[in-house]
Amino acid sequence: MDATVLYDLSYGVYAITTWDEGRAVGCIANSVMQITASPMTIAVSVNKDNYTNGCILRSEKFAVSILTEQSNPRIIGAFGFQSAADPAVEKFAEVGQKLVNFLPAVADSCGVITCKLIDSHDCGTHTIFIGEVTGAERFSTAAPMTYSYYHRVIKGKSPKNAPTYQPED
Ligand SMILES: Cc1cc2nc3c(=O)[nH]c(=O)nc-3n(C[C@H](O)[C@H](O)[C@H](O)COP(=O)(O)O)c2cc1C
Repeated sequence: MDATVLYDLSYGVYAITTWDEGRAVGCIANSVMQITASPMTIAVSVNKDNYTNGCILRSEKFAVSILTEQSNPRIIGAFGFQSAADPAVEKFAEVGQKLVNFLPAVADSCGVITCKLIDSHDCGTHTIFIGEVTGAERFSTAAPMTYSYYHRVIKGKSPKNAPTYQPED
């Protein structure tokens, strides 16, 4: 099997955020897609080892901030390469936050889609969360960051918990 073919699937780069009691938490995910138009629903695949997974289950809501090509790479560092399982980690410590529909969102992004959790599917290592869209707000008209741009231009890596992870030879 040539698993590199899977690299040709197209994605964006998103910050999935929610509340852990009163603490704003979240992770980076490429695995976001719109499922239906009416009602408007979207899905995201979140690793069970990500602290964000249990927080979405408990809060029953999440927000999807769409990163732009100009978004500060520190956002990906903060949300994609450290875990809020460590109580000392504050994901928004150096990342501007906006509150939309009572959910924390990343200000340096195209905008945010807020969701209420309506279903979840156990997929082994990951959970697919399905959210009904409760609102959407635009922050910028900058080009959205694609996963391909993240790899080609930013030279970013995908950590083990990303569903697209493939060990390097
Ligand atoms: C570019 C990129 C894409 C990622 N995509 C996903 C994804 O789709 N699903 C996922 O569960 N983790 C994904 N991750 C990994 C999580 O963002 C990472 O494990 C994060 O540190 C988890 O934080 P948490 O433990 O605070 O939830 C991705 C990371 C990066 C950098």
